Amino acid sequence: MRSGLRSRRASRHAPLPFEAYGISSRRRLGVGRPKRLLGRERQHLSGRRALVIGSGGGIGAALVERLVASGRFDRIYAGNRRPHSSRHPSVTRLTIDILDDDTLAEAGRQIAPDGALDLLIVATGLLHRGPDIRPEKSLKQLDASTMSEVFAVNSIGPALAAKHFLPLLARRQRAVAIFLSARVGSIADNRLGGWHSYRASKAALNALVRCFAIEFGRSNPDAIVAALHPGTVDTPLSEPFQARLAGSSLSSADLSASRILTVADQLSPTDSGGFFGWDGRPIPY
Ligand SMILES: NC(=O)c1ccc[n+]([C@@H]2O[C@H](COP(=O)([O-])OP(=O)(O)OC[C@H]3O[C@@H](n4cnc5c(N)ncnc54)[C@H](OP(=O)(O)O)[C@@H]3O)[C@@H](O)[C@H]2O)c1
Repeated sequence: MRSGLRSRRASRHAPLPFEAYGISSRRRLGVGRPKRLLGRERQHLSGRRALVIGSGGGIGAALVERLVASGRFDRIYAGNRRPHSSRHPSVTRLTIDILDDDTLAEAGRQIAPDGALDLLIVATGLLHRGPDIRPEKSLKQLDASTMSEVFAVNSIGPALAAKHFLPLLARRQRAVAIFLSARVGSIADNRLGGWHSYRASKAALNALVRCFAIEFGRSNPDAIVAALHPGTVDTPLSEPFQARLAGSSLSSADLSASRILTVADQLSPTDSGGFFGWDGRPIPY
C-alpha cells in the first residue's frame, strides 16, 4: 500500500507566490441560496479554460462531459492518474497524480502557455479501497497507514493541487476553484460519528480551502475558492453504502456535475472560503 506523499521535491517546482497582501475585511462565509448570474459573469464564462482533476472518477468524468456539452470553454483540461486519449477536440488529457509534485508541476507547465484558468475543480477523493481501506465504524479500527493514505488523498493532495493551480487562475476577473469535500466533514453537523479518517480528512480540506481563499483573495479579490459537497452520488466511492439510502437521496453523476457547475457559476467573491452543498446552501464547518 502506498502511504503519504511520493515526492518531496516541491521546492524545484514551486509556483509563483501570490502577489499582494491586505485582504478586505468584507470577505466572509457564503450566504443563502445561489444568486442569479449577472450578465457580466455569464459573458465572462464563454470561451475560457477549465481544469478538472480526478477526471477518471464518477463525478470528475461527468464534470468533463458537462463542460464539453456546455460549449462555454475553449479548452478543458482533464487530469487523471491514468489519462485516456481525448475523445473531444476541446479536451486535453493530462497525467496528474495529486500526491506527486512532479506530475502537478508538469501539468502546470502544459497549461500555463495557453493562458489563465477560469475554473478549477478538484474532484479526487478516497473513502474505501478493496479490503485494505474501509471507513472506520469504531475507534478500535483506526490504523495509522490507512489514516495516512486517506488524509494524503483527501487533504494533502488537494492542497498540492491548490499550490500548483491556484496561481494559474485568472487575475483581476472572476475565477472559481471548487474542491469537492463532503458534508460528513462538517464538525458542527456530525451527529453520528464513525468514518473517522474520511470525516477528519474532509474537515482538514475545508480548513485548507479557507486558508487558500484568504491568501488567494489578497491578489485576486474577484476569485472564489470554495469547498463543495456534491450530494450522495452514484459512483464507485458511494457504491458499497448505497443500499442504506432511500433511492431519492442518490443522484446520478451527471446530475451532480450539473449542480456543481451551477453553484460554481452562482457563487460570488464574498462566498470565497465557504463550504457549500450541491444546492448552493452554506454548510457549517
Ligand atoms: N460519491 C459521493 O456520494 C460523494 C459524496 C460526498 C463527497 N464526495 C466527494 O466527491 C469527490 C469525487 O468523488 P466520486 O464519487 O467521483 O469518487 P470516485 O468515483 O471514487 O472518484 C475518485 C477519483 O479520485 C481519484 N484519485 C484518487 N487518488 C488520486 C491521486 N492520488 N491522484 C489523482 N487522482 C486520484 C481517482 O482516480 P483513479 O481513477 O486513478 O483511481 C478517481 O478518479 C471526492 O472528493 C468525494 O470525497 C462524493
